[in-house]
Amino acid sequence: MQIITKKSLEKFSLSLPIYSDIKIADATSKEGDNFYIFAGLDKEKVLQLKTLSLDESDKEIQKNTSDRKRFGLGLYEDWYKKGRTPFALIHKNTNKLAALIWFGAETLEGEKGNFHTSAWRSYPGFRGKGLMKEFANFAMNFYAEKIPDVKFWAKIRKENIGSIGFAQAIGFKKMQENPDGDFIVMVKR
Ligand SMILES: CC(C)(COP(=O)(O)OP(=O)(O)OC[C@H]1O[C@@H](n2cnc3c(N)ncnc32)[C@H](O)[C@@H]1OP(=O)(O)O)[C@@H](O)C(=O)NCCC(=O)NCCS
Repeated sequence: MQIITKKSLEKFSLSLPIYSDIKIADATSKEGDNFYIFAGLDKEKVLQLKTLSLDESDKEIQKNTSDRKRFGLGLYEDWYKKGRTPFALIHKNTNKLAALIWFGAETLEGEKGNFHTSAWRSYPGFRGKGLMKEFANFAMNFYAEKIPDVKFWAKIRKENIGSIGFAQAIGFKKMQENPDGDFIVMVKR
């Protein structure tokens, strides 16, 4: 995927006010599909996120994430209060939320430094197509330019081989094998 950062992007700091979004890049996949990359989600994208999080046919989201509870049944407002910054990959022709990645300051037990938690999802129709990796790398770099000395960590279900492989593909390494049984922690310093 070719990603081109918007020229003359006005300076802004993170996290953004709730429901505000800023278009930060255009992207084109290898297949020639066009996308936007946004920092932040507007209300319409949050509605899409809610629907996607409740989608029972998406077994991977239901099995590997808490999004049903977090965004489907819970309130986006409550989650946003934790100081998270979501980035969205939006399919230009359909306006569909293709992928999401978010970051937010959260201490990693036993570690010093400016650690931020991270989480990622690609959605049906856009999953497994190589879009997520380049989108995630772009979003991480963009975020790191705004947050000096940031380090990333992610908590992943041990059986979520796809996400562990994905984390490795974007530069995370396994850190703790057994923090609370079902999960591993991966870090990118
Ligand atoms: C994890 C997830 C975001 C990966 O997204 P994706 O669309 O598959 O990502 P990409 O197609 O860009 O793949 C990028 C790389 O990730 C790795 N990867 C993806 N799926 C993998 C799998 N099943 N096993 C091992 N590595 C995998 C590969 O290195 C891949 O690169 P390659 O295709 O060149 O080998 C996606 O599977 C997803 O949304 N799953 C459901 C939600 C979820 O589990 N989120 C994470 C919760 S911790």
